[in-house]
Amino acid sequence: MLDRVAAGARVGGQKAGWGAARLAGRAASSKAPTHGEAVAKKLYVKTFGCQMNVYDSARMADVLAPLGYGSTTEIEDADLVVLNTCHIREKAAEKVYSELGRLRALKRVREKGGNEMLLAVAGCVAQAEGEEVAARAPFVDIVVGPQAYHRLPAMVARASRARRTAVDTSMPAESRFDHLPEELAGPQPGRGVSSFLTIQEGCDRFCTFCVVPYTRGAEESRPAAEVEAEARRLVAAGAREIVLLGQNVNAYHGAAGGETDAGELDLAGLIGRLAAIQGLERLRYTTSHPRDMTPALIRAHGEEPKLMPFLHLPVQSGSDRVLAAMNRGHTADRYLRLVEALRAAQPEIALSSDFIVGFPGETEVDFEATLALVREVEYAQAFSFKYSARPGTPAAERDDHVPNDVAAARLSRLQRVLDDQKRRFNAGMVRRTLPVLFERRGRHPGQVAGRTPFMQWLHVDGDDALIGSVALATVIDASPNGLAGALAGSAGAPVNARDGTADMASMGGIPA
Ligand code: SAH
Ligand code: SF4
Ligand code: F3S
Repeated sequence: MLDRVAAGARVGGQKAGWGAARLAGRAASSKAPTHGEAVAKKLYVKTFGCQMNVYDSARMADVLAPLGYGSTTEIEDADLVVLNTCHIREKAAEKVYSELGRLRALKRVREKGGNEMLLAVAGCVAQAEGEEVAARAPFVDIVVGPQAYHRLPAMVARASRARRTAVDTSMPAESRFDHLPEELAGPQPGRGVSSFLTIQEGCDRFCTFCVVPYTRGAEESRPAAEVEAEARRLVAAGAREIVLLGQNVNAYHGAAGGETDAGELDLAGLIGRLAAIQGLERLRYTTSHPRDMTPALIRAHGEEPKLMPFLHLPVQSGSDRVLAAMNRGHTADRYLRLVEALRAAQPEIALSSDFIVGFPGETEVDFEATLALVREVEYAQAFSFKYSARPGTPAAERDDHVPNDVAAARLSRLQRVLDDQKRRFNAGMVRRTLPVLFERRGRHPGQVAGRTPFMQWLHVDGDDALIGSVALATVIDASPNGLAGALAGSAGAPVNARDGTADMASMGGIPA
């Protein structure tokens, strides 16, 4: 789970190129209350944490749309502010309270002007701390957990009249997905040319450092037919890539759900089913657990051209002793064999990972084993964190915590190695011609930016019309953070979705 990627993403920033024309009518008609009962109100959602939270933020905008809420990027104007929060590390959780301090002042200013500003805390801090949020920040109107946000409209309706913070951190037996409307709110972060789609929720793995099984509850997979219907709607609205999300996404096992099919689909089966959607060019999935990488899923990386050759496969540590203490359920060797099998199926596959350094009891020898594993794998990119003790998790109870300065020194050693690998990986792209899915305008006027099959951002000088399509670009320059390229001139040359060598048909064509 890339919990840092999306930190601070805001709902409301309309992305260029997201089939805006196609969506405009739909968004406008769905947002405007039909019986004139609700005046247009403004919603500001600030998202912390992983992609799952980005997806949930968009879904919260959907459930609030029928109440007349439309997104704004100006927090001062908001009638309702939602903080969608993350509890994964202490810093992430504490950020919420400093944010709330700022919001309290804003709320007062708006109230002085005779306007309301409702404050809602959603997401994993809401789930983990529930009543504590209400106690520490009594000016918060609503606290709602990730399983209960389909009830937001009722909570919002009551909040204006209530004096107390309303808290709902229940984990209802029924799936919230059965209560969410279709994508009413239109373009949102995480819903564009590349769109997130949550297919699996919760986690049963119970790694000893992790809060997710407690904040998100038990593993649950959405029925494949429901996922497919949502994917088709996203594609009809302009999505060309879908990123399937789950805390443990490769544990997916959803009811097939077709009229004739009473069976179950695993992730490989679901990918096959979604790949048949016309107009969908690319599929990705995140985050996977090494224990749930099945042979069928590994094969899919070699056989399904729409499945991109990139995989985020967190290992956390290279020491078997630490892996066992983390309850990861695999050894370093088993992970390396998985990497071998993935590379045999798809020699180009680029790998990414998460690492925790300074897990309780980690010795210098353990840490060296992590460095050795990293050197053996050669990652395209990776995220690394200092261990953070989380209340209620088994590792937090241990009495052999690693001193902060030791953990910090290890983290910077690891990050140096990972940074070098990333630099090498990007530098290796120079002069290659790659199919790029253009998603948005670049930083400078006249530029557009998109992703290579390997997840790197690449920008070229080019027209906005490119946004929403795959085009070939030749890489001119590489930095650790991305690539610069030029559109390959020979439109019409046959290319392969991965390396520019075969059929163009599945790629949406090169715009003239
Ligand atoms: N489901 C994902 C992880 C979600 S959390 C998976 O299994 O990989 C994202 C990352 O945060 C984890 O991979 C881990 O590296 C890191 N993380 C989780 N708990 C942490 C903690 N207590 N301290 C430091 N990092 C942590
Ligand atoms: Fe957390 Fe482990 Fe589950 Fe990932 S697999 S969400 S790290 S408990
Ligand atoms: Fe995601 Fe953070 Fe919750 S990583 S699942 S938002 S604790």
